[in-house]
Amino acid sequence: MWSVSVLHSHAMKNPVRIAPSILAADFANLASDIERVASFIDLLHVDVMDGHFVPNISLGPPVIASLRKATDLYLDCHLMITDPLTYLEALKEAGADGVTAHIEAVPNPNPVMDRAAELGLDVGLVINPLTPVEAIEPYLDRCSMAVVMSVHPGFGGQSFIEAVLPKIESLREIIDSRALLTDIQVDGGIDRRTAALAGAAGATVFVAGTSVFHAEDPVQAIESIRNAATREVT
Ligand code: DX5
Ligand code: ZN
Repeated sequence: MWSVSVLHSHAMKNPVRIAPSILAADFANLASDIERVASFIDLLHVDVMDGHFVPNISLGPPVIASLRKATDLYLDCHLMITDPLTYLEALKEAGADGVTAHIEAVPNPNPVMDRAAELGLDVGLVINPLTPVEAIEPYLDRCSMAVVMSVHPGFGGQSFIEAVLPKIESLREIIDSRALLTDIQVDGGIDRRTAALAGAAGATVFVAGTSVFHAEDPVQAIESIRNAATREVT
């Protein structure tokens, strides 16, 4: 558990932010699903899947271009794809604000990070539940976000894997000890209960799909996640 001073310091640098994942929204009614929550959220999480890095296919640049026309929200594009480098330009042109690439897909992420920087995209790195923090540690100073998957990527609606919490704690320790501004995003199985756990461990950006878009009242779901996370972080 974190000392009060550490908690305060990361809370001030990185306030809690909520990033609903549109994977759980109604793809035939994306604009209205987003409109409903837009003023209560901080980022929109866009899961891009290629059917190769993960066993599922979701969406790509054409849908992102349509999202860009429908909202001014920050488009946080989670690239569950084998070859992120090839698609960075198209993603930028479509209107992505930031991309996160899996270290399992790009064990040397420098070319992706260089190209993203050239294009003016924020860039972060993601680790799967079984990938250790050490895999991204050398690149943390270049990451806008370090993303800890709390489910195996590919599908929404899975249960939060509590065994990833020590990885969030360890990232928090490294980021604070190096005085980096890197956010820690947690993705998968987030609801009010697991947001509290992840927030206590040091996460600052909370991706939530099912618990938001399948809720009877998505706005209330967002606020309860924010409150649960904030209570632990501040
Ligand atoms: C999983 C995706 C997640 C997913 C989260 O591959 O990266 O962003 O949409 O959805 P829930 O909140 O339903 O676990
Ligand atoms: Zn995601």
